[in-house]
Amino acid sequence: GDQVGFVGWRGMVGSVLVQRMQEEGDFAGIDPVFFSTSSAGRTAPDPAGTGDPGVLQDAYDLEALSRLPVVVTAQGGDYTKDVHAKLRASGWDGLWIDAASTLRMSEDAIIVLDPVNRDVIDRGLERGVKDFVGGNCTVSCLLMGLGGLFRNDLVEWATSMTYQAASGGGARHMREVLQQFGDLHGAVAGELADPASAILEIDRKVLAAQRGDALDTTMFGAPLSGSLIPWIDADLGNGQSREEWKAAAETNKILGRTDRYAQDWVPMDGLCVRIATMRSHSQALTIKLREDLPVEEVERIIDADNEWATVVPNTKEDTVRELTPVATSGTLTIPVGRIRKLSVGPGYISAFTIGDQLLWGAAEPLRRMLRIATG
Ligand code: HSE
Repeated sequence: GDQVGFVGWRGMVGSVLVQRMQEEGDFAGIDPVFFSTSSAGRTAPDPAGTGDPGVLQDAYDLEALSRLPVVVTAQGGDYTKDVHAKLRASGWDGLWIDAASTLRMSEDAIIVLDPVNRDVIDRGLERGVKDFVGGNCTVSCLLMGLGGLFRNDLVEWATSMTYQAASGGGARHMREVLQQFGDLHGAVAGELADPASAILEIDRKVLAAQRGDALDTTMFGAPLSGSLIPWIDADLGNGQSREEWKAAAETNKILGRTDRYAQDWVPMDGLCVRIATMRSHSQALTIKLREDLPVEEVERIIDADNEWATVVPNTKEDTVRELTPVATSGTLTIPVGRIRKLSVGPGYISAFTIGDQLLWGAAEPLRRMLRIATG
């Protein structure tokens, strides 16, 4: 099989990628070469169990990288910024498959989400596109869930209000949230153990702990456990966060619509909010349909679009059981529920969807792109 370079395989996204590749037997079809930014020369991993792992190559060694027909990186944006342009400038014309956002909006790059945009990927490969980048996690999970409505050109516009997990920030953010939960519990453990204790006293102590300096808030900059933070990523200076800007820019690019003044461009916007969940991002959508379709028809289109989107019946019982981050994490299922006509007018529907931010939101589209590229 093709030699494929892997950079950033040890981090959170990289680890999920390697694990998914093992589960799917993907290593059988390729010859992996593992790179490291810090441990070149040490023994490489051997995920295919060949018994001959070889040694880690230096991730900044342009010559070693440029010998490979395919490089996959989950090392992060700084690495991409540093290495990608130099590698291209040296004449390398291999495939670069990247989890970072750095190259996403470049005209020379395609955002990969093949269950939704296999046609865009195939046309790109045909015309010689070499850079393939995973999308923003909320955008990818949204399109995996509601892609059917977008692909059938049924969406006039949409808003997405998000409930994003700590993992979107990184591994240390997840630890910080759990540590905060533990510290808050510790502040009232005695009172909690006593059913007769006063709840307002417990609440007062928790709030005091959240506002005091006992909680570590290094990663998020404010307590997240027992609270939320309605801002994700950079401040663009126009009132919008970068995460919010991505919704329209990336959704339309994934669908192959790049002209925001064209008929087929779907306007999208919303507020992105960080909550104290672990690894699944949730989104509440308001969608203005081009036609006032019956709910059953909307459900049928969503369910039929791909094998992972799954409609959750809009009942309390089904919602509580299946439409939560806890039910979704660690699975490739993208539940879509709370689908109903909103009373504000004809053609307005609501939906709520959830996706594992590390699977469909990060590793899985890259894994599948590698499969397409080396298949
Ligand atoms: N920007 C996302 C978040 C993660 O912070 O949740 C990566 O797409």
